[in-house]
Amino acid sequence: MDVLQAIRSRRAIRSYSSEPVDKKTISDLIDLAICAPSALNRQPWSFAVIEGRERLADLETAARAAWLDEDGALLASQPPEVAEHVRGLLQAGFPIFHEAPAAILMLAPRDDTTALIDTALAAQTLMLAAHGMGLGTCPVALSGAYFNVPATLADLGLPADVQVLLTVLIGNVAGPRPDMPARREPTVYWC
Ligand SMILES: Cc1cc2nc3c(=O)[nH]c(=O)nc-3n(C[C@H](O)[C@H](O)[C@H](O)COP(=O)(O)O)c2cc1C
Repeated sequence: MDVLQAIRSRRAIRSYSSEPVDKKTISDLIDLAICAPSALNRQPWSFAVIEGRERLADLETAARAAWLDEDGALLASQPPEVAEHVRGLLQAGFPIFHEAPAAILMLAPRDDTTALIDTALAAQTLMLAAHGMGLGTCPVALSGAYFNVPATLADLGLPADVQVLLTVLIGNVAGPRPDMPARREPTVYWC
């Protein structure tokens, strides 16, 4: 698949087969992700791998409970329109991890804007690479606030000074690949 075709045909995949993704494939994807550019070539990213549908299902249960718990602290930590959207999605039963067999957490140092850009570029590189290998991915922000609670980072064995910027689900696609959701005409200023 050439790069232009890959860019056009990559989709957020929300339906995965139960087939696991092996460790070598995940390592190869991370090796490709780090081909992304980074400011001053700092390569500030790191990665955490979570394997297994059951493990992700347990984390999804915990994340859902944390979002919707009685004191509402996690929702209150978000901008109001985000909190309202998240509450609506979760109350409607929208899945967080879509029964994917694995996830790669994209980690960036906290309070470092350029590192966030670098890590987001690495995430897109990883998703295109996975697509090129015939795998499906979905970027997930819905888990971010839960993963970034200090106790969750500690439970996962992650350092306290990183932030989980994005979760990238990964697996074999079940069923047909979705069509591209419509794109709006971009605003372009020719200066
Ligand atoms: C930062 C970010 C966060 C996202 N979070 C979620 C999410 O939590 N759950 C989900 O199912 N999709 C999530 N998506 C996927 C988007 O919904 C999807 O990319 C968008 O609808 C366009 O579809 P496409 O990727 O197939 O072109 C996220 C995408 C991005 C870039």
